[in-house]
Amino acid sequence: MSLYLPESVMCNGERFKVFITREEIDARVSLLGEKLDKDFEGKRPIFIGVLNGSYIFLADIMRNVSIPCEVDFMKLSSYGDAKVSSGEVTELKHIDAKLKDRHVILVEDIIDTGLSMKYMIDKMKAMDPASVSVITLLHKKDATLHDVQIDYVGFEIPTKFVLGYGLDYAQEGRNLAQIYVLEEDN
Ligand code: IMP
Ligand code: MG
Repeated sequence: MSLYLPESVMCNGERFKVFITREEIDARVSLLGEKLDKDFEGKRPIFIGVLNGSYIFLADIMRNVSIPCEVDFMKLSSYGDAKVSSGEVTELKHIDAKLKDRHVILVEDIIDTGLSMKYMIDKMKAMDPASVSVITLLHKKDATLHDVQIDYVGFEIPTKFVLGYGLDYAQEGRNLAQIYVLEEDN
């Protein structure tokens, strides 16, 4: 079966056009995997994915590292069904794994205002891990208000609403294999 790779898509009545292609994502993910392999050799890191958005990126990242590693998930909600952040973080699922003395790698789909990541980092640090690192697929640098640590970035993007490869608009569009941007924003 081949992937569905349209040039543009409709999602909840709005048109989005391709912004970051399948090839660009694959190349970047493979490079990030190599970096993680080097930086975490002998450390058996635990990837903590922030649900729901990060699950596809996390799956690809993990398949691009060859060192022993583990995974767990945490679920946060800050967007509701809107295109702008609600400004509040709600924890919907906590981590089951014990993180004391572990090398934790937080995995996000996108860092926008930085509020969710700031919340995550504080939570992790309270669990006394050996280290906390942050990897995000996308970073809206100009929109970031909170001072958050970011160690690995897939792509720096402008402050535009994007969709696909795990990212949703009112829960739709996560299944798209490429990253799309709202057409009116261009
Ligand atoms: P922050 O707390 O403002 O940094 O927002 C982070 C969360 O908002 C991400 O984990 C996403 O779930 C969501 N988000 C931010 N920007 C976008 C976007 O352009 N498309 C879809 N979801 C987004
Ligand atoms: Mg998210």
